[in-house]
Amino acid sequence: MVKSLFSLGLILCLVSCGSNSKQPDVVFVAADSLNLIPYPQAIEKGEGYFKMNEEVNFFFSDEISSEGLDLINSFIDSKTNSIKPNIESKSNANTCHLILSNDFESLNNSPEAYEINVTNKDLTLTAKTINGLRYGIQTLKQMRAQTKSATESAYLLPAMKITDFPRFQHRGLLLDVCRHYFDIEVLLKYLESMEYFKMNVLHLHLTEDQGWRMPIDAYPLLNQISSWRLDTNGNQYGGFYSKDDLKYLVEFATDRNITIIPEIELPGHSQAALAAYPQFSCNGGPIEVVNDWGVFKEIYCAGNDSTFVFIENILTEVMEIFPSEYIHIGGDEAPKFRWEHCDKCQKRMLDEGLKDEHELQAYFIQRIESFLNENGRKLIGWDEILEGGLSPTAAVQSWRGMDGGKQAAETKHEVVMSPTSHCYLDYSLNSIDLEKIYSFDPIPVDLAEEYHQYIIGGECNMWTEHVPNEANLDSKVFPRMIGLAEALWSYPEERNFEDFYKRLQYHYPVLTDFGIDYGLETIGATITQEFRDSGVFIILNKNLSDLELKHSKRGGRHAEMLWEYEGPFPMLTQDLRVQAYKNDEPYGEEITQGFNVHQGVNKKVTYTTPWSDWYAGNGEKNLVDGKLGSIDFRDGNWQGFWGEDIDVTIDLGESQHFLGVSANFYQYANSWIFSPKRVTFQISTNGEEWKDKSVRTFNSIDLSNKKSIQKVSFGSDLMQGFYGRYIRLTVESIGKVPDGHEAAGQDSWLFIDEIIIQ
Ligand code: ACM
Ligand code: ZN
Repeated sequence: MVKSLFSLGLILCLVSCGSNSKQPDVVFVAADSLNLIPYPQAIEKGEGYFKMNEEVNFFFSDEISSEGLDLINSFIDSKTNSIKPNIESKSNANTCHLILSNDFESLNNSPEAYEINVTNKDLTLTAKTINGLRYGIQTLKQMRAQTKSATESAYLLPAMKITDFPRFQHRGLLLDVCRHYFDIEVLLKYLESMEYFKMNVLHLHLTEDQGWRMPIDAYPLLNQISSWRLDTNGNQYGGFYSKDDLKYLVEFATDRNITIIPEIELPGHSQAALAAYPQFSCNGGPIEVVNDWGVFKEIYCAGNDSTFVFIENILTEVMEIFPSEYIHIGGDEAPKFRWEHCDKCQKRMLDEGLKDEHELQAYFIQRIESFLNENGRKLIGWDEILEGGLSPTAAVQSWRGMDGGKQAAETKHEVVMSPTSHCYLDYSLNSIDLEKIYSFDPIPVDLAEEYHQYIIGGECNMWTEHVPNEANLDSKVFPRMIGLAEALWSYPEERNFEDFYKRLQYHYPVLTDFGIDYGLETIGATITQEFRDSGVFIILNKNLSDLELKHSKRGGRHAEMLWEYEGPFPMLTQDLRVQAYKNDEPYGEEITQGFNVHQGVNKKVTYTTPWSDWYAGNGEKNLVDGKLGSIDFRDGNWQGFWGEDIDVTIDLGESQHFLGVSANFYQYANSWIFSPKRVTFQISTNGEEWKDKSVRTFNSIDLSNKKSIQKVSFGSDLMQGFYGRYIRLTVESIGKVPDGHEAAGQDSWLFIDEIIIQ
């Protein structure tokens, strides 16, 4: 128990003084109606309320005097409180206790746990650690924003008991300050808002192919050369933080219970560093800082001992600035092309008995890990570090789905989950909206309970290739990060998106106070279909309960206007436009969806090769749903095949005449999606004898960084058309990503949508 309490002698005038003695209306927010985020584990309602006004006195237990004072100051001086209190030396009986107690226990022993007890006489905040108290203060700040009395200068805190602790210990945001550079002020702003929503890790991605953002005294060229790239206009773009900036950032974060984990990428994503110090690459350069997006083949040479000296010297300076237990070393997306063609790397493999380049990567990572361990730190890396063998004490951040993380947990490694399916804030709202991220559960469904303890939490990843400025960054991070904050704090059975969404609305003014230019929660509408006997119907689903939808109709004047959605309507060939409204204002941009009603719609399709679960599209109906894929390959209409050809047969049910067949394919070399090498069309009346074999061959492979839709059509030369029941398309993939592409040798993707028969 707390040995003694003493008054700070700090009497707060929480509101403009000149108090008025009139009793407040007993209209206050009930304990269970407080719009807190993340929502506390338990709230027990009491009777009455505690009036927090200018006469409230603060106490705290003696062990925390200076930090406690800082905490109280942060409470009364909060930016999120529109009323700036005066501090006076007037004593009063009303008390607000802050108690640090060794005896305090939470259900999961979290050092971030706290309890708030509000009666109609006083308020007691108890925790075992200063960070527990800090989180109690955040909860009080959120309560204060919602409990201001309507009639007098006071906050009316409902009597209650809050018992709270986080489900996961690691609740993070990854910020890529390399692809685009963001000033230190932006980072400070993010730290403030993270604290408010009880996020406790800022994973700062500091080095990349396109820019190096930290000064290293031993290697000044890392700033003179590596921090700068050319933008699309040919201008120098970049920047870097000073060590003083970074030290201040760490201190600012620590004061808010936020650990900054620096990420220094190796062996890949290191081209900017190699541009300055090409002697640590395999072929000695010359190498330039990358001015494009993607994965690049210049990586550190693993056969050169001086490479390790270089990296270790860098990490020594990194550790001087960042006290985090974990140092993130990247480890993702390291093409092995250079290592395969490097004598030194090949010799290293021979000398060390390494059977392939994946084992060489494991050697690289383990050597760096030993260095970090010798310096009292632990290594964390992306799930690629599992390939070729994982060192015993390394932690894994799983991004290519949850499997890597699951595998790591099953071998008792700590795991941070940030799969692309739920946690990538650079993805559009089309694929990851607020509800999706809110539904995230870092524990894989098929992970045995004994290994759950190794999943220490999750992160949302903000990669900034396509995020050129602060406003854009804000709109991508918020409000989705807040969804993750609650998803990592609470238990899935306690979560309800609708309730969360309502609570969130109360926090937007707070975000505005933080200076955050937050974005939308979702795209307004999702367009789905119902396959009935009478035909295919279109259904417009609003993605938030308080939206209204309008849509265009086909034909003439109708197509230009928007009509209130009144329920499912028959699918017609058209570019359907849909607009959502919130409070009569347009919510987000108009959505356009192309439809083509053709003879194959809703017919049976047999797949001989499986589509990838990553890009399932509309499943077995995808090629015959009449719904067309757009230039956004993640729009849910495209079906992806990875390292596979496509072999599909459509059964029209009975033989019939049609004029032609066409199919759409996607081309985007940057994401390893390539048009087919060859498409073959066959027709049959009985499914056994095939005829009218026709072939389209693509003569060249497009390696450019451009998105396009390629249409392949089979028409009949004489216009007399075709006749048959079964239509078969075999689509040959180009196979591996070809030479000349940074990902040469990897499996490529084939993306297909609608097979149009008409
Ligand atoms: C990653 O997104 N390459 C970790
Ligand atoms: Zn090499």
